[in-house]
Amino acid sequence: MKIAILGYGKMGKIIEKIATDRKHEIVLKIDVTNQDELTTENLQKADVAIEFSTPGTVLDHIDACFKAKVPVIVGTTGWYGHLQRLKDECEQNGTTMLYASNFSVGVNIFFHINKMLAKLMNNYPYYDVQVEEIHHTQKLDSPSGTAITIAEGIVDELDNKKEWVNILSTDGTEGLADTIKADQLLIESFRIENVPGTHTVVYDSEVDSIEFKHTAHNRNGFALGAVLAAEWVQGKKGFYSAKDMFNFSL
Ligand SMILES: NC(=O)c1ccc[n+]([C@@H]2O[C@H](COP(=O)([O-])OP(=O)(O)OC[C@H]3O[C@@H](n4cnc5c(N)ncnc54)[C@H](O)[C@@H]3O)[C@@H](O)[C@H]2O)c1
Repeated sequence: MKIAILGYGKMGKIIEKIATDRKHEIVLKIDVTNQDELTTENLQKADVAIEFSTPGTVLDHIDACFKAKVPVIVGTTGWYGHLQRLKDECEQNGTTMLYASNFSVGVNIFFHINKMLAKLMNNYPYYDVQVEEIHHTQKLDSPSGTAITIAEGIVDELDNKKEWVNILSTDGTEGLADTIKADQLLIESFRIENVPGTHTVVYDSEVDSIEFKHTAHNRNGFALGAVLAAEWVQGKKGFYSAKDMFNFSL
């Protein structure tokens, strides 16, 4: 497979290594220094593009891939307010896009069990639930896309939570947690040097706590998942998420 890498930062570099190990060829690498090379002609040299850049650049990159009719795998987070528009455009134009807030297999298993657990906890309303996420200090968006997917999974399944709200600890929001309403799900975000990504769901009652936690040890799992997604979309048309690729069932 011929791959274009859009955003050649921490993730782009690991994706290059994993894709090359899996015998794929990198035909285009775009970063801030060579944005002028992001042309339809150059993109069309690739069978698929893999996008890990920034929330401020991802939409332009997706539009460029749609224009070139090159399938695009999107790992960048922080753009989900535009999801419906992109889904519509993708389907109307007959192009292909797959996105994931988190491409790691372990996190996608976590997403699945998180929903099952939330459904079960409807029977035990004396537990209150909260989500906590920790990432490195360079992360631009908050809460993480992964935390949003976890929170939306809980809001979808747990009858007494209607929406999520976020508190970023570095904003100096001491005491703000006390203002959260009973039907709001709190996501607490922490930014700590060198943490690739830790997500915890806590159900707390007066007598005990249940903690459900995923810890990424490095970024390799995200990069492998993105390359697997690029392989999976070959020959497919339409708008997909990681859920379609993993398709967990018991
Ligand atoms: N979905 C997942 O599994 C997953 C996993 C890890 C990270 N992420 C997300 O992926 C994104 C990138 O993460 P990262 O750790 O590689 O960040 P990074 O900061 O290391 O890399 C981002 C790169 O984008 C480049 N860039 C900025 N503007 C650009 C432009 N106009 N054109 C091309 N490139 C440009 C930067 O120079 C940088 O090299 C973030 O949004 C992060 O949250 C998603």
